[in-house]
Amino acid sequence: MKNSIKVFAPATVANVVCGFDVLGFAVNEPGDEVTMNLTNEPGVKLLKIIGDGGKLPLATDKNTVSASVKHFLKHINREDVGVEIVLEKKMPIGSGLGSSSASTVAGLFAINQLMGNVLSAKELVPFAMKGEELACGFGHADNVAPALMGGFVLVRSYEPLDLISLPTPANLFAAIVYPEVDVPTKDARQMIRRNVLLKDAVTQWGNVAGLVSGLFLNDLDLIGRSMTDVLIEPVRSILIPDFPLLRQLAMENQAIGFGISGSGPSVFALAKDESTAKKITQTLQNHLKKLNINSHAYVSAVNAEGPKII
Ligand code: HSE
Repeated sequence: MKNSIKVFAPATVANVVCGFDVLGFAVNEPGDEVTMNLTNEPGVKLLKIIGDGGKLPLATDKNTVSASVKHFLKHINREDVGVEIVLEKKMPIGSGLGSSSASTVAGLFAINQLMGNVLSAKELVPFAMKGEELACGFGHADNVAPALMGGFVLVRSYEPLDLISLPTPANLFAAIVYPEVDVPTKDARQMIRRNVLLKDAVTQWGNVAGLVSGLFLNDLDLIGRSMTDVLIEPVRSILIPDFPLLRQLAMENQAIGFGISGSGPSVFALAKDESTAKKITQTLQNHLKKLNINSHAYVSAVNAEGPKII
C-alpha cells in the first residue's frame, strides 16, 4: 500500500441556476491539491496551507480537510493511523466555485486511496458534506457530490441521501467569471427568503425537471430555457455588480444560459463549444474592467472524472 499521495479535486458550479442545493457539475479547472503522508504517530495533522493568504484555519477540527479525514478514519475504525496533510489552495476562497468542497474532496479522496479504496466516490459524499457544514453551517451536497463523482449530479433527496449522476451533452463548455468582490456562502445563505409562493415553486420545479430532461435529451435549447431561478437569484444577484447586464452580455454572445455559480459572486454561462465560452468570458471580463473590478476567468469542459492522483 502507498504511504504518500498527491491529489487534485475540481471546482464545481452548484445550483446550476434553478436547482438550489440539488444540482451541480464539476469543471476541470480551477481546483485544489492535497499532499498526504502516512506516519507512525497516530492522529491527523494539517502541516501547512499554501495559497490561502492566511484565511483558513489550521486547527485540525476547524479545517474542513483535516476534520473530514478524521471523521473518515473514525468511521473505518482506523484512528490508529497517522496522517500529515499539506493543502495547496489553487482557487479563490469564497468565490462560489466550491472552494471548501474542492479541498475537502481532495483530502477524502487521498485518505481513501491510502487506506486501499475502502469506500466508493458516492460513499465519500456524506463525509465531505460534514466539511461543508463546518464551512458554511449547512452540509449541502451540490458541490461535494459532483466534485467526488464528476459530471452533473442531482441530489434527489437529502434524507436519505439519494444522488443521481446525469449525462453531459457533448462539447458543453462552462464560461466562468469570478469578480473579486466578497460574498461569503454563509451570508449568501442567510439572505434567502425562507418562504416561497406556490406559483414560484411551480415555476422552479418545472425548470429543474426541464434542465434534467435537457441533459438526458441532449437538448441545449431546453437546458437554456430551464436555467431560470425565481427564488434565489433575485435576492442574491444584488451582491453581484451589474448582474442583469452581465446576463445580457452573455446571452448576446450565444450563451445557452447564464446565472450565479453556487452562492456567488462567480457567474457562469453554459456554451455550445470552447470558442463561444471564451468569447463570453472575455466580454464579461471587459465589462467588469470598466467597473474597475478585477476578475478571473475559467473556461472548461464539464469534468467527468472527479478527483485524480497527480
Ligand atoms: N447550494 C449552495 C448555495 C452552494 O447556493 O448556498 C454554495 O456554493
